[in-house]
Amino acid sequence: MTESTRVDNSVANTVETQPGATSVADPDGVAPDSVAPDNVVPDPEKAARPQRAGNVGEPLVVIEHVDKYFGDNHVLKDINLTVHQGEVVVVLGPSGSGKSTLCRTINRLETIEGGSISIDGKKLPEEGKALARLRADVGMVFQSFNLFAHKTILGNVTLGPIKVRKVNATKAEEAGMKLLDRVGVANQAHKYPAQLSGGQQQRVAIARALAMDPKVILFDEPTSALDPEMVNEVLDVMISLANQGMTMVVVTHEMGFARKAADRVVFMADGEIVEEASPEEFFTNPKSSRAKDFLSKILH
Ligand SMILES: Nc1ncnc2c1ncn2[C@@H]1O[C@H](COP(=O)(O)OP(=O)(O)O)[C@@H](O)[C@H]1O
Ligand SMILES: [Mg+2]
Repeated sequence: MTESTRVDNSVANTVETQPGATSVADPDGVAPDSVAPDNVVPDPEKAARPQRAGNVGEPLVVIEHVDKYFGDNHVLKDINLTVHQGEVVVVLGPSGSGKSTLCRTINRLETIEGGSISIDGKKLPEEGKALARLRADVGMVFQSFNLFAHKTILGNVTLGPIKVRKVNATKAEEAGMKLLDRVGVANQAHKYPAQLSGGQQQRVAIARALAMDPKVILFDEPTSALDPEMVNEVLDVMISLANQGMTMVVVTHEMGFARKAADRVVFMADGEIVEEASPEEFFTNPKSSRAKDFLSKILH
């Protein structure tokens, strides 16, 4: 519960309190037609990883020697991780290992005590307009969807582009409708979040992240709060994003997703990256005893 409370505040912060951001997105670039699938449910064959092989590009998120403390608690210990353009990195690890904190440091929802993080070649500044601009390049999707309850579905998706990217309302709504269509909830546009199922709300949260035209999207256990029958509709949207070349960092316990969509698995324990491997290698031949122990618990 404390986690979702924290997250609620931070999302409101990300979207609503950055009037200083001056970057204006090309509104047509918010929802490029060329990447919109006809159907959010991908062909399982096409969704397989090999299709993505070779698509991974330049370093986009570069995390070097990052240390993070909460008081005396050293929660990120000399973290080094590079996420390349178009890459899908799945972060696994037991509860408390620092996965959420890592996501939150990537767009400075948490400060760091040591090391550096850069996005697309630019170091994350401490604060101010430059931070707001860089932060807008990093989409986030959380376990507890965090939609604004008093805004319609379309209003949730257009808020960031209008307030932060300064897109005009009509263009933002056009782009927003395309995005809602892309995640399969266009017919819910004028409802309020409470009128939607959890799976639908999380798909809206993904559309809201996409509306900012981010360079990378971080997903922190996006399906953990969902009823089981709604998990796949969200994972399917994420798989189709992965296949369209979106750069993604995904904290999840969904091993099927990791196997299908990840280019790389990063396993964390006690604030450290203990192991990094292809999904195939990680699941069939984990090296560390921590990873073996984790997998034996999660794969029954
Ligand atoms: N806001 C916070 N204040 C103090 N300690 C925190 C805070 N957030 C996380 N922690 C601590 O940091 C460690 C890593 O937590 P977290 O990143 O949430 O792990 P995970 O997401 O892997 O479960 C844990 O020991 C947790 O108790
Ligand atoms: Mg977490």
